[in-house]
Amino acid sequence: MKIKIRKNFLTISIFSFLIICILLLKFPLSEKLNENESNEKIAPRIIEASTETLEEKLLKSLYKFSYNQFIDFENFNNRKGSRKFIIPNVVHLLYLNTNEIKFYQAINIYSIFLNQNPDFILIHCNDCKFSGHYWEQINSIKELKDKIILNKIKFHETIFGQEYGWIEHASDTWRLMILMNYGGIYLDNDVFVINSLNKYRKYELSVGWESYKEVLGTQVLIAHRNARLLRAHFDAYRTAYNSSEWYYNAGIVPTNIVLNHSYMAHTVRRKFGVGIHTDELYKQNWSSWKRLDTIHLLINHRSYLDEESPIKDFDEENILSYPYTYGEMCRLIMSKISKLYNIDFKRKSIRK
Ligand SMILES: *[C@@H]1O[C@H](CO)[C@@H](O)[C@H](O)[C@H]1NC(C)=O
Ligand SMILES: *[C@@H]1O[C@H](CO)[C@@H](O)[C@H](O)[C@H]1NC(C)=O
Ligand SMILES: *[C@@H]1O[C@H](CO)[C@@H](O)[C@H](O)[C@H]1NC(C)=O
Repeated sequence: MKIKIRKNFLTISIFSFLIICILLLKFPLSEKLNENESNEKIAPRIIEASTETLEEKLLKSLYKFSYNQFIDFENFNNRKGSRKFIIPNVVHLLYLNTNEIKFYQAINIYSIFLNQNPDFILIHCNDCKFSGHYWEQINSIKELKDKIILNKIKFHETIFGQEYGWIEHASDTWRLMILMNYGGIYLDNDVFVINSLNKYRKYELSVGWESYKEVLGTQVLIAHRNARLLRAHFDAYRTAYNSSEWYYNAGIVPTNIVLNHSYMAHTVRRKFGVGIHTDELYKQNWSSWKRLDTIHLLINHRSYLDEESPIKDFDEENILSYPYTYGEMCRLIMSKISKLYNIDFKRKSIRK
């Protein structure tokens, strides 16, 4: 009796297996859905790794850390942080009203690529028709190109119905919106990455704190999309936006929130380099730069902070003999990129 059942079972199994095989031959799993065809009889399409679009891969990367879990930060300890990563390894850059990548910005992108190695670099831009030598150079490195996603955003002229006083104010609110949407690592275009930022991916929100001025610097902002400070800061624009004050809403407002609610943020002293380091960068050989994790170059402020320098704009030629810290920083990145990816920084035009 037992044996009979077993035999029957075996026959049924073999039979079912054959039917499945025949069905699979008839309706292969990977077959593309025909638009006119009813989907009912076809099994769900399996997306092979190689056919995944960049956006699908990005979503996966975001899901892994922040989209798959709702974190209630009510009792979160921003001193200790979480044991696991809670922030996706995605870097966000913002290019508003420009389609040009300058030399120093390319170097910064290489520094992100080499020293942070994010899953993705999202460039949020309102035009996104990038061109020029450094853009071509960046795209000639396949490993880097495969990580870059251009995300076209609509430039908004107002915030909660109030007109922006400066374009930089739009960038102040965009970084909050971007992080509230995706979470990740936001960096200003003039931020150079020195060491891995992974240790900060375990906090609700990390932000630089300049103790001598008692003010936050949001040039580097690493946050979970549910971070409370993002919302509190953004909300303050509703009632307290002052378009004639340069740093009020971007700096003073979040500083005041953090002064009263220190549990909301992991404040980083010195390591984000968001203070004023123009003397160390452009007038000295400063060996301690390697101890920071990032540094804000303040490069667009050199015209008055470093007015005696004969170099107005850095490029791959004048940087070779530039005798101060910033020269060493750039040359280190250039030599790594040249060696690893065979990039010739001397050649202005890149063969297609
Ligand atoms: C905005 O800032 C300016 C300049 O400091 C000041 O005169 C003005 O009163 C402020 N406006 C509001 C609504 O607080
Ligand atoms: C902290 O909150 C109190 C009470 O709301 C307020 O009076 C004070 O100005 C706040 N401090 C800062 C630095 O914003
Ligand atoms: C900084 O160091 C480099 C390399 O050691 C040297 O060539 C340069 O002259 C130094 N610059 C200054 C300002 O001392």
